[in-house]
Amino acid sequence: MPSRSPALAEFSAVILAAGKGTRLRSNLAKVLHRAGGRTLVEHVVRACLPLRAREIVAIVGHQADAVTSAVAPLGVRSVLQQPQLGTGHALRIARHKLDRRSKYVLVLPGDAPLIRTETLERLARAHLSSGAAATILTAGLADPTGYGRILRKSDGTVSRIVEEKAASPDERAIQEINSSFYAFTLSSLWPALDALRPENAHKELYLTDAVALLNARGLRVLAEVSADAQEVLGCNTRAELAEVDRIFRDRKRRSLMDSGVTIFLPETVLIDPEVRIGPDTVIEPGVHLLGATRIGANCHIHTGSVLRDMVLDDGATVLEHCVMAESRIRSAAVVGPFSRLRSGADIGPGARVGNFVEVKKSRLAEGVKAQHLTYLGDASIGKGSNIGAGTITCNYDGLRKSRTTIGNQVFIGSNSALVAPVRVGDRAYVAAGSTITDNVPADALGIARGKQATKPGWAAARRKQLAAAAPRRSAGRRARPARRASKKRRH
Ligand code: UD1
Ligand code: CA
Repeated sequence: MPSRSPALAEFSAVILAAGKGTRLRSNLAKVLHRAGGRTLVEHVVRACLPLRAREIVAIVGHQADAVTSAVAPLGVRSVLQQPQLGTGHALRIARHKLDRRSKYVLVLPGDAPLIRTETLERLARAHLSSGAAATILTAGLADPTGYGRILRKSDGTVSRIVEEKAASPDERAIQEINSSFYAFTLSSLWPALDALRPENAHKELYLTDAVALLNARGLRVLAEVSADAQEVLGCNTRAELAEVDRIFRDRKRRSLMDSGVTIFLPETVLIDPEVRIGPDTVIEPGVHLLGATRIGANCHIHTGSVLRDMVLDDGATVLEHCVMAESRIRSAAVVGPFSRLRSGADIGPGARVGNFVEVKKSRLAEGVKAQHLTYLGDASIGKGSNIGAGTITCNYDGLRKSRTTIGNQVFIGSNSALVAPVRVGDRAYVAAGSTITDNVPADALGIARGKQATKPGWAAARRKQLAAAAPRRSAGRRARPARRASKKRRH
């Protein structure tokens, strides 16, 4: 495995990332498009990092600043190619920018994000052991359309690469394609690049032409066939982008299933690359697990829920159709269906958050229940407290946010408004329908609502009064016009 094998210290890695990506019909540079939850170029960098090459350099051009910002945090240095005159030109630009101690270069296309570290390592090591001037990673594709084709000599070495547009019908029938991942020996590469000419449909300097030029100098070019043809797929069109995304998502789900996670109808489940899930957790159809979400063991995420940057302790349950982000659900807590956790919600062990409950920057201690139609914002709620249906913490007065503090074993009656800042002490009650503006001490009852008046017989008397005032109707005749009748109506 790459991390245990010696570093590829004599290699510089160069990622080609300057192109526009015309075929995507986009204002965004191709390598900044996303698949599998990351930008294309970030995937390529991440595949390269464990090789411990001497350096990783990105050739940038289109939206150079944005591409640089995407790769710089990963320790990648950018070199500007302006204008972009082709893949051969891109490497020429790098010539005087590479570390002088490097003897070899590993070239990576920034738009082929499915590549695996193991495959890159195999390419580099094959190159080192053969002593060839260049080694090309190739793949056999059922549909090679759009790729450069590999032409081999009778001894199996590569004589040249022919681009799709320049290929004869016979050459187009070749299914072995150029992946654009190469290992080159620099002392051979530089003179070949000097000899490149823009004699092709796009008037560009093609790196692929270097292969024939190396052969002309009597140097050997070898092919290393990729074990998994999917790894070399490029993202030149939206359709290819979608296909590559699908493959990434599939890889992620498979690795989770291999590690003991149950995923039903896996093709409907979207999981970002950094998500971690413990064994025996069940993920139902239509769930999205995004960002840095961490899910423990024995959890159950029911259908249709979307979790971003969440932490779930072992044994937590999320019922159907919840939307939650940047929050924590502790063990044996149950949230949902239709719950919303915004940032900073901390749902304690065994707590219960139910339908149409929104929680933001609030801590619910062990066993708290907030089951229906409630907003809890900037609140802290002690152990075992019960929050009645329709409770609102009024945390915002138009200027400031204030906190609501509820003690242990508190009972908040339904449809209460708690106007923050306010405190309700341990074991206290708040009567249903109260608007609480003053603190309620421990063991007290807070009640703040209009007193009820009950008028016996009132409803019956009103019905009678209305009936007397109503227009008379004689049989067979229509009622009088509504306008006249309405005059006498009482409300
Ligand atoms: C290239 C190869 C083709 C191969 C295919 C594999 C050439 C001429 N052709 O074709 O044989 O089958 O990749 O995916 O090399 N780039 C620059 N500067 C430039 C031009 C391109 O940095 O001036 C970058 C692009 O951003 C891209 C990569 O090089 O990341 C490859 O360029 P692209 O235009 O996608 O080449 P393909 O037509 O796919
Ligand atoms: Ca490409």
